[in-house]
Amino acid sequence: MSAPWMLDELAHAGPEHLDEEFVANFDRKQGFPDPGDDIEALRRHGVGAEGTVLDLGAGTGRFAFAAAAVFRRVIAVDISPAMVGALRGRAETGESSQVDVVRAGFLSYRHEGGPLDAIHTRHALHQLPDFWKTIALRRMAGLLRPGGVLRVRDLVYDFAPAQAEAVFADWMAGASEDATRGYTADDYAEHIRTEHSTYRWLFEPMLDAAGFDIAEAHYEGRLFGTYTCVRR
Ligand SMILES: C[S@@+](CC[C@H](N)C(=O)[O-])C[C@H]1O[C@@H](n2cnc3c(N)ncnc32)[C@H](O)[C@@H]1O
Repeated sequence: MSAPWMLDELAHAGPEHLDEEFVANFDRKQGFPDPGDDIEALRRHGVGAEGTVLDLGAGTGRFAFAAAAVFRRVIAVDISPAMVGALRGRAETGESSQVDVVRAGFLSYRHEGGPLDAIHTRHALHQLPDFWKTIALRRMAGLLRPGGVLRVRDLVYDFAPAQAEAVFADWMAGASEDATRGYTADDYAEHIRTEHSTYRWLFEPMLDAAGFDIAEAHYEGRLFGTYTCVRR
């Protein structure tokens, strides 16, 4: 897609993700999340050892490098040059030669090769406004084989508009005081103000309209959704 109305993905990537110092501390800030459940979900839905898996908005590669120990090929895609630098650093130090690193975005990634078995994306799709989420999801469906799996984790709002103030107040109350080891109330406020988390009751129809059946949906609290979807 190269229309003049095309979104500038880098401008929407979140300025912190473009900052090398932030990227260097990123895994510590987010508490070294364990991608084991995500890998297990792909296996449970038929992605085998010969599978090819795409990670969109891969960040520093927490999922991609763990997945490369299990699946034949993993492609780690991120729009941020700083994140891509971190990914390439890990790939070049021999952590895994099975991770291909590509600088591109949800809307601009061009896949070479056959249809994918799975796509994983964690805490990245909310960078796109809703219209662009639907375009991104449709592109993902187009990259997967029928029966291929989409595993999405994101900050998705599982509440009614009238509950927003109370839910956000609770969220802030549990924030970290230390910006190097967690997300602070300022980080949460910036997320709400400048990023594009959507409601669960909007997101699920978007998945359906893009060609996915939701096989599993799980929420932690009212803000963090995990979906395992199968491409029709
Ligand atoms: C919060 S980080 C999550 C990184 C990783 N998925 C993880 O869970 O550790 C969001 C990532 O999405 C990337 N990103 C933002 N907009 C993007 C886009 N349009 N296409 C691809 N990646 C994007 C950022 O550069 C950043 O690396």
